[in-house]
Amino acid sequence: MREFIYYSRTAPTSGNYISDDLMRSGRIDIAIHTVIASFFLSHNFRNDVKLHLCFAGPPDPPKHLELMPNTEGTTGVDKIYLSKKDVGWVLKKLLYKYRKGVKHEAFPGYWIEKKGFLEIVKELDKEGRNLYILDEKGKDIRKVKIGKNPVFILGDHLGLPTKELKRLKGMCTPVSIGKKTYFASQTVAIVNNEVDRREDAGEL
Ligand SMILES: C[S@@+](CC[C@H](N)C(=O)[O-])C[C@H]1O[C@@H](n2cnc3c(N)ncnc32)[C@H](O)[C@@H]1O
Repeated sequence: MREFIYYSRTAPTSGNYISDDLMRSGRIDIAIHTVIASFFLSHNFRNDVKLHLCFAGPPDPPKHLELMPNTEGTTGVDKIYLSKKDVGWVLKKLLYKYRKGVKHEAFPGYWIEKKGFLEIVKELDKEGRNLYILDEKGKDIRKVKIGKNPVFILGDHLGLPTKELKRLKGMCTPVSIGKKTYFASQTVAIVNNEVDRREDAGEL
């Protein structure tokens, strides 16, 4: 299992803040592309990925949307059908289904709760997970040993929050996928490929 944590300081924290204009809805379009890059393969769906979306935009930050979609069983009972064009709708529904004080599983494998970015990372650190921050200035990912069940942390168009970043550096290894600045979704696609290749080579 590999995990990604996507942080967005602008992504909306209530369903009614998502309009048809996705780019003007706190750049939820970036989160949608990140979901697609996390789970979708050509004619296939990854079931070895968990994605944490940490939204810190208005009106009720923070919100933690955890996605590890069920892929087995009957659609509408054990799983929901997720197509690329429906991702925005699913995120909007998930935000609407938030319930105060609980981690609510709104659909099979889709949870929502009120939890901040740093808290999520700290919990994974306590579990002893191998944490990596995706950062252009980090070590070349191809030269870094990636531990079992890795967790990769990345930011939105504005990057990761500076204050929290300082605290994260003690818990995580900064890794770079190259000198160019990539879209968040491209970063996820590249890291997924890197991890796939290491698994194929028996290195992970
Ligand atoms: C569009 S970039 C953010 C650009 C933003 N201006 C900044 O300074 O961070 C979105 C995220 O993708 C990841 N990313 C982009 N290019 C990368 C690279 N070359 N190496 C590692 N991570 C990268 C980073 O986590 C970044 O926060």
